[in-house]
Amino acid sequence: MINGGIDMNFDVKEAADNYAEHVFCQSNTDCDIVKILKKDAHKRIYHDMLINPDEYKPKPQLLFVEPWNGKKPTSPLDFLKNKNVVLPSLPQTLIQIKRVINDPESTVNDLAAVISNDPKLVASLLRLANSDIYKYKYTIDTPSKAVAVMGFKKAGLLALGTVSLSMFKKSQVAVLELEKFWKHSIACGIIAQEIARAANLGDPEHFFVSGLLHDIGLHVIFESEKSLAVELLRVAETKQLSFYDAEAEILGFNHAVLGGVLSEDWELPQTLVRAAAGHHDPEIIKVDLEAAVVHVADYVGRALGYELGLSIIIGDLDRNALKNIGISPDQFEELLPKIKLLIDETFKILNP
Ligand SMILES: [Fe+2]
Repeated sequence: MINGGIDMNFDVKEAADNYAEHVFCQSNTDCDIVKILKKDAHKRIYHDMLINPDEYKPKPQLLFVEPWNGKKPTSPLDFLKNKNVVLPSLPQTLIQIKRVINDPESTVNDLAAVISNDPKLVASLLRLANSDIYKYKYTIDTPSKAVAVMGFKKAGLLALGTVSLSMFKKSQVAVLELEKFWKHSIACGIIAQEIARAANLGDPEHFFVSGLLHDIGLHVIFESEKSLAVELLRVAETKQLSFYDAEAEILGFNHAVLGGVLSEDWELPQTLVRAAAGHHDPEIIKVDLEAAVVHVADYVGRALGYELGLSIIIGDLDRNALKNIGISPDQFEELLPKIKLLIDETFKILNP
C-alpha cells in the first residue's frame, strides 16, 4: 500500500524477513529442501503478519506459575516416577483396541464393536476416514464400514492414534497451547504419511499415526511440571536455543526420549515407540526409518508454521534422515503444495 509515497508494507516486509531468518537460524541452508522451505516461509510469514500482526507480538509472561525448584530428574524414568507427574490414565477403549488388534483371532466385527462403544472415538474416526487424507469413493458412516473399507490393520491403528491423542486435555493452567499441540500433531501425521507415500516406504497410514503421537512426551512435561516448562521456555528464549536443545541443557534428555519411555509403558506398537523416542536423535534417525520420517515431518511442519509456540527456532533438518528416507529435493518440491492443501482441508473437516 502506498501512502504519501511511503510503502506502508515496507516495515512488515522487513519484520517478516527478520522473523523468517530467525526461524531458520540454526538450519543449514546448503540443503535444497531447507532452501525450499525457507523461501516458502518468507512468503507465508509476510502474508500472515499483514493479517494477524498480534500473533507475532511478544507473549506476556506466565506470572501465575511458581519458579522452578531446580531439582533435575536423573533420567526419564525418574521424571515419570516423580509425584508431580500426571500421566493421562489409559482409557478402557485404548486397552480394548490394543487387545483386539494384538489378538490374531480378532475379527472385523470385534474391532467395530470396540470402536462403537466410544461415541467420541466414532465421531473422530469417521471424520478422519472421510477426510482427504484417505480418498475413499464411499461415505464412511459407521464404524463397521470404516473397518471394512479401511481394513482391520489401518482402522485399528487409526483408532489407537485417535484415542491416544484425545487423552491430552486442556488443563486449567495451560503453558502449552493445546490447539497448537493438536495442529502440530495432525500436520506432522499428514506430512509423515505423504513423505512415506512419495518415497514408497509402504503403509503410509502407519507413518500418519507415528507423526500424530510423536510429541506426547512434550505434553507430559508441560502438564506435569509447569514450572520446569516455563524455565525451559525461558532458557530457550534467553539463550536462543531450539526447545529440545534447552531440554538437553537443563534435563539431560528431551521430550522425545520421555515420549518413548511413556509409549513403551503404554505398550503401543514398537514402530510408534521408536518414532517418538528417536525423532530428535541423530544416531537413531540414521538407521530407523520411522524416526527419520517423523524427524523430517516435524521439521517441515514447524517450517510451515505448525509450531508449538515454544521456540520459533526450528533447529536443523538432519541430512542423514533425508538419506535414510531417499527423498529428493525435486520430489519434495512437488509434494509440498499437496501437503499444504491436505493439512488445510483436514483442519477444516476435523475442526469445523
Ligand atoms: Fe519433538
